[in-house]
Amino acid sequence: MSTEEHTEQHPEQQDKQKDWDQRYRNDDTPWDSGLPSAELRRVLAEQNIAPCRVLEIGCGTGSSAIYLAGQGFTVTAIDISPTAIETARARATEAGVEVNIVVTHIGGYESPAEPFDFIFDRGAFHCIRKVYLQGLLVLLKRVTHPGTRYLTLTGNSDELSTDNMPRLRAADLCSDLEELFKIDQLRAFYFEDAPDLRGPLGWSCLMTRRGG
Ligand SMILES: C[S@@+](CC[C@H](N)C(=O)[O-])C[C@H]1O[C@@H](n2cnc3c(N)ncnc32)[C@H](O)[C@@H]1O
Repeated sequence: MSTEEHTEQHPEQQDKQKDWDQRYRNDDTPWDSGLPSAELRRVLAEQNIAPCRVLEIGCGTGSSAIYLAGQGFTVTAIDISPTAIETARARATEAGVEVNIVVTHIGGYESPAEPFDFIFDRGAFHCIRKVYLQGLLVLLKRVTHPGTRYLTLTGNSDELSTDNMPRLRAADLCSDLEELFKIDQLRAFYFEDAPDLRGPLGWSCLMTRRGG
């Protein structure tokens, strides 16, 4: 397993790192099912997305990144929380898979020269857009090529429960992402909070990077 550290930070990101890391240290992570995303697996199968170079943004403790590596994808996974990343690295080692796991805020990520073919995030885009949308769009442009697919799983404004998960309208996804990506498929789905436990309603948004 290869590892990288990027500790130099934009000042506005330092507080965010402390907040996220504290949640992992306090085990206050209701989103962390410990399972690879079922919606990711469905999209990969339905869309015939073959193993390729993939970047997972905000990978948390690595469940989906490890699954992707096990399926033959060449995986880089990044997260701002050192505690989450430490767990992800241990789990990757235990699973015997190669994942390039990097502690970094998205603004400081030193991406490789070769762009990624597939980008995935589960619950990261919907958090980061609130504080750093422009930085996230710059990253997405930098790490992709025309034709790169991007699957984001976000909260859905039609969810009626009172938890604190960010909730987006379909229009929010369009206004944030449509300039850079063509939306191929937007559908409602349910997050899984634990094995066999239905979580909140979300959006599954599969896109293709424009241009070329
Ligand atoms: C709701 S959690 C989802 C984690 C993981 N994808 C999962 O499904 O278990 C959002 C993740 O994004 C990470 N994150 C938040 N802001 C970030 C940033 N600016 N750069 C990198 N990661 C960030 C957090 O540390 C956290 O692990």
